[in-house]
Amino acid sequence: MKIAIIGGTGGQGLGIAIRFVQAGENVVIGSRTIEKAQTAVEKVKDMLGNERNLKAAENVDAAAEAEVLVLTVPLAAQKSTLLSIKEEAKNKILLDATGPLESAIGGSPMNYLDLWDGAAAERSAKILKDTNVICAFNNISSAALMNFNEPIDCDCLISGDDVDSKLVATSLIEKIPGVNVIDCGPLSRAKIIEKITPLLIGLNIRNKTQFGGIRITGLDK
Ligand SMILES: NC(=O)c1ccc[n+]([C@@H]2O[C@H](COP(=O)([O-])OP(=O)(O)OC[C@H]3O[C@@H](n4cnc5c(N)ncnc54)[C@H](OP(=O)(O)O)[C@@H]3O)[C@@H](O)[C@H]2O)c1
Repeated sequence: MKIAIIGGTGGQGLGIAIRFVQAGENVVIGSRTIEKAQTAVEKVKDMLGNERNLKAAENVDAAAEAEVLVLTVPLAAQKSTLLSIKEEAKNKILLDATGPLESAIGGSPMNYLDLWDGAAAERSAKILKDTNVICAFNNISSAALMNFNEPIDCDCLISGDDVDSKLVATSLIEKIPGVNVIDCGPLSRAKIIEKITPLLIGLNIRNKTQFGGIRITGLDK
């Protein structure tokens, strides 16, 4: 499957790109500039070897050629980035990792930022009306994703309104070693999922680590 990482040059996007490349998926790292995307691709190739299933593109071109999009930009860049790929994202799946953290307005990353639109993923769905938006990757840290020789000890809580899109997302995300996907229900559940991120950031800071994650137990999946 061809996957575009929109804003894939930061820690979260790069980590997701690495994991999907390792899983044998075709990955396009997107950026506002082709030069930055190319630098990111070179970085991944240095880490993994000369992978063929990886390329660089500007965000809009990356979105046009992929079937599944992953959004990994800061909250402040969410709306402008989505508007720039709105046409290309039509009828596709978008996995939204955007974290509504108070750091977006100069506060602490350990605090959640209430948005007018509800969850960040709900805001994405309002902007991209013809795209199947799924809240995903909020609970997995970039450090864990970038630690590519190790499995990830964390569940990936997802939510979304289109059942088939969630099945596609689940089979993709579970290609990452150690990751178990938990479907939390409709997109409106994203408000809860996204609140776990500042909690984990706070736990990481308190425990001087970057690998804090979450496991849901007792479900007979
Ligand atoms: N880092 C984590 O551990 C983690 C965990 C869970 C969720 N998340 C969420 O994932 C998202 C990405 O996190 P990150 O740490 O990777 O972020 P980041 O490094 O700050 O930014 C990622 C990329 O977004 C693009 N970007 C930055 N500012 C922009 C702007 N004003 N307009 C348009 N594009 C802009 C940049 O790409 P170009 O300059 O190449 O265009 C940048 O490399 C955030 O919403 C975060 O809350 C992160």
